[in-house]
Amino acid sequence: MGSLVPAGHPGVCGMKSAARSRAAPTGRLDLYERNDMSKHYTIGVIPGDGTGPEVVAEGLKALEAAGRKHDLTFDFKRYDLGGEAYLRDGTLLPDSVIHELRGMDAIFLGAIGHPGVKPGILEREVLLKLRFELDLYINLRPVVLHPGVDTPLMGKQPEDIDFVVVRENSEGMYAGGGGFFKKGTADEVAIQESVNTRKGVERCIRYAFEYARKRNKGKHVTLCAKTNVLIFESDLWFRVFQDVAKDFPDIGTGYQHVDALCMWMIKNPEQFDVIVTGNLFGDIITDIGAIIQGGLGIAAGGNIHPGQSAMFEPIGGSAPKYTGQNKINPMAAIGSAQMLLEYLGKDKAAADIFQAIRKVLSQDLKSLEAGRMGYTTSEVGDLVARYIMA
Ligand code: IPM
Ligand code: MN
Repeated sequence: MGSLVPAGHPGVCGMKSAARSRAAPTGRLDLYERNDMSKHYTIGVIPGDGTGPEVVAEGLKALEAAGRKHDLTFDFKRYDLGGEAYLRDGTLLPDSVIHELRGMDAIFLGAIGHPGVKPGILEREVLLKLRFELDLYINLRPVVLHPGVDTPLMGKQPEDIDFVVVRENSEGMYAGGGGFFKKGTADEVAIQESVNTRKGVERCIRYAFEYARKRNKGKHVTLCAKTNVLIFESDLWFRVFQDVAKDFPDIGTGYQHVDALCMWMIKNPEQFDVIVTGNLFGDIITDIGAIIQGGLGIAAGGNIHPGQSAMFEPIGGSAPKYTGQNKINPMAAIGSAQMLLEYLGKDKAAADIFQAIRKVLSQDLKSLEAGRMGYTTSEVGDLVARYIMA
């Protein structure tokens, strides 16, 4: 690895430069090569736990409004999964549901996580199982500061915070390998394994380069890893990154260690266009991404197997303390609905949701925080729907 990363490596390494253009900051693009002639879609809906059902309702409202305007119809098939279903009769994610979801045009998920269930059960057996079983190997998480939204980063403007994290979503630390030895004794050993396959790493990195090309903004991909310590997994990521980059001479490349990248996301987020990284680092850095774009109330994401299946979800959790109060911010779910339409190749309909989100954020909402928006959850959804139809 020493030959690849210079000694005394400061954590930022420009490997190749490309013209950094400043095109319209939308983060939207059609990367999915879908049949654009379709008009009717079957969507699997998993409202889930806590405030999940409330935000999902507003996401579906936005989808329906965009559908009415653009002559698209949706058949929403609901699945009762999550903490309540588990506590009621032990249901987690039945194989029959996985089978049905495979046949859907897309899946829309609210939140999974329940205070009455031990951490790890619902996450592993519902959310992560969906990602793994459907092989949704990309977790696409845009970080966009919309006009009118406060960021905790002093002096940063919307044009400074507009990038996308491509998180590997099917392996790494999340593969779940490992075990205990001499558990519960003073000699206990706990091993947690990270699985990185050449195929898994390559398809993720290739997607990131293709995304940067189609996004056509900074035309730049930054690899985020930890080559100075993770001398096996990050070495593979680094080599594959260099190999794949050869197929994209029009795209600039950079490398940052994950710890340094966390710092640069705060200090100079304007340097990023597309960041590609493994599953655990991607999980962590996208929480920083969420907060610098205004919080979990606005952070949307998509779990995608290009051309095969995809599941869109707000990246925040189930916010149990706000359940049923009509106070939670539904914008992340509405943004996820926008991403779902992009995935379906309905760019005009998606753009209408995007513009409506921008309008509500810049004209109407007092704050992005639950209970402080100046509107209820459903009123925010109504505003978005009205602007979509206008
Ligand atoms: C996320 C979440 C999940 C993850 C949890 C709930 C398992 O934090 O989607 O970022 O770690 O991927
Ligand atoms: Mn997370």
